[in-house]
Amino acid sequence: TAGEQDFGERPETLAAVDRAIHACRRCPIGELDNHAVMGEGPADAALMIVGEQPGDQEDLSGKPFVGPAGQLLDTHLQRAGIDRGAAYVTNTVKHFKYVMRGKRRLHQSPTAKEIDICRWWIESERALVKPKLVLALGASAARGMLGKTVSISRARGTPHPLEDGSELWITAHPSYLLRLEGDAQQEQTRLFEADLAAVRERLA
Ligand code: URA
Repeated sequence: TAGEQDFGERPETLAAVDRAIHACRRCPIGELDNHAVMGEGPADAALMIVGEQPGDQEDLSGKPFVGPAGQLLDTHLQRAGIDRGAAYVTNTVKHFKYVMRGKRRLHQSPTAKEIDICRWWIESERALVKPKLVLALGASAARGMLGKTVSISRARGTPHPLEDGSELWITAHPSYLLRLEGDAQQEQTRLFEADLAAVRERLA
């Protein structure tokens, strides 16, 4: 697949992926003072939700989407009638990438190269879970799923067929909504809600 690096045999279980990501040093992010965060949810989930990378709180707790972006995601999933507990929730990049600002760890976006290296893990998870639908949150997740960079505004609102017959849906990242204000926030929230509603409909 485009963009993906081949590291040989795929792990045969999610537990093996979990062990392997903790040991992964294929890119420099794994060398930082952080912990890999494994996906969470049923191993046979119909929906896989893919974020960018763990943030500070996810790194500390070891669970995906527990911080501010995760809380906003939970709110919108609930409104859309999508049960987060029934979904497999994971990230494109497995380790938190940051720079220190005083005592705070500030989020840094992964590079396309780092995403492409980490794609091996997300594709291993997807091959094991075999979701019917994948919801990619933001540009990093979209790249992780497609192996190329796409524009969210052009890619959203329509399914992208994946090679195994499943469907990829692309929307904005909830932390993008958190950074906006006023009319822009309202407009982007409306689009985000419409994307979740479309996914909800395809799941039913
Ligand atoms: N943002 C993400 O993309 N993933 C998380 O797990 C948390 C915040």
